[in-house]
Amino acid sequence: MIGPEGSPPLLAGRRVLVTGAGGQLGSALRLALAGAGAVVVGLGARPATGVDVVADITDAAGVRRAVDAAAPAAVIHAAAWTDVDGAERDPERANLVNGEGSRHVAAAARAIGARVMAVGSDYVFSGGGGAPYGEDAVPDPISAYGRSKLFGERAVLAVDPSFTVARTAWLWGGSGKHFPRTVLTVLRDRGGMEVVTDEAGSPTHVTDLATALVGLLAAGGSGIYHLVGEGRATRWELARAVAEAAGLDPEAIRPTTTAAFLAKYPLPASRPADSELTNQRGEALNIRLPSWRESVATYTPALAAELGLQRVAEALL
Ligand SMILES: NC(=O)c1ccc[n+]([C@@H]2O[C@H](COP(=O)([O-])OP(=O)(O)OC[C@H]3O[C@@H](n4cnc5c(N)ncnc54)[C@H](OP(=O)(O)O)[C@@H]3O)[C@@H](O)[C@H]2O)c1
Repeated sequence: MIGPEGSPPLLAGRRVLVTGAGGQLGSALRLALAGAGAVVVGLGARPATGVDVVADITDAAGVRRAVDAAAPAAVIHAAAWTDVDGAERDPERANLVNGEGSRHVAAAARAIGARVMAVGSDYVFSGGGGAPYGEDAVPDPISAYGRSKLFGERAVLAVDPSFTVARTAWLWGGSGKHFPRTVLTVLRDRGGMEVVTDEAGSPTHVTDLATALVGLLAAGGSGIYHLVGEGRATRWELARAVAEAAGLDPEAIRPTTTAAFLAKYPLPASRPADSELTNQRGEALNIRLPSWRESVATYTPALAAELGLQRVAEALL
């Protein structure tokens, strides 16, 4: 990403440390930051592609050493324990990584005068009637993961209220596990699947989010932002749109309810029934993401090709 025509790239020469650099969002962030002219340093819990510095964010002294050595002007904190059901089984670990870990990252950054932009989650909301949630909605998490993410965002803003928390939702894209990848893999391997019609949210592609985070960093926003793909989707609508964009029959996505799904496949953690977020503060800075349908149309063909599905669609014609 470059700046307006004739102007230097948005983050020309700025050193930016990315935590969670080996993860789904971290990988997209490294690309977006480099495209904006930043010098990127990736931090991860273990050696991986894109990880320049290894540190566990639960280790305050280790994080401090890593941040000191990287000497960034800004930190985008995308590391988290994102296993929602694992967090329900082990809430202490969730709080340690997502809460205390975030505090360590923020404190280490503040000590060297670096800004922090931490990535937050729609799971800080219950989804039980308040959607769509604006940035000023009062959080009321219903899962250990949601509570740990709320702990983390509050810890970051307590270290310095001028830091930023960018909440996002239903992330997809990249080489790891995500819902559209699961949908296409199941359709390819089994021909059809049941998907719930009563869970709704804001699907967000990691590349769109990474671009928006770079824009927000350049704009210098403070406090809480919601950066999500525009619009509301149920899981069923998203799965159908993904199937269609891959050239498959959307009727292969059969509707079901969360209650029926959980009766077959019980899960420990409750999920918000409707956690649609609205991006009001980002829009005021001209930072908006494409609609989720546009992003499904943009990014699904490459995912389908990666899964060998283009050939399946062609064979059906
Ligand atoms: N995925 C979603 O749908 C979603 C929705 C809303 C918000 N978010 C937020 O978006 C951010 C990025 O999520 P993502 O989807 O990119 O998750 P991800 O793919 O699971 O990446 C998270 C990264 O954090 C690293 N990490 C975990 N524990 C760590 C520790 N103790 N020390 C250092 N690094 C650690 C992981 O490393 P290892 O893999 O090596 O453990 C991984 O690279 C997170 O803050 C998440 O809460 C995600």
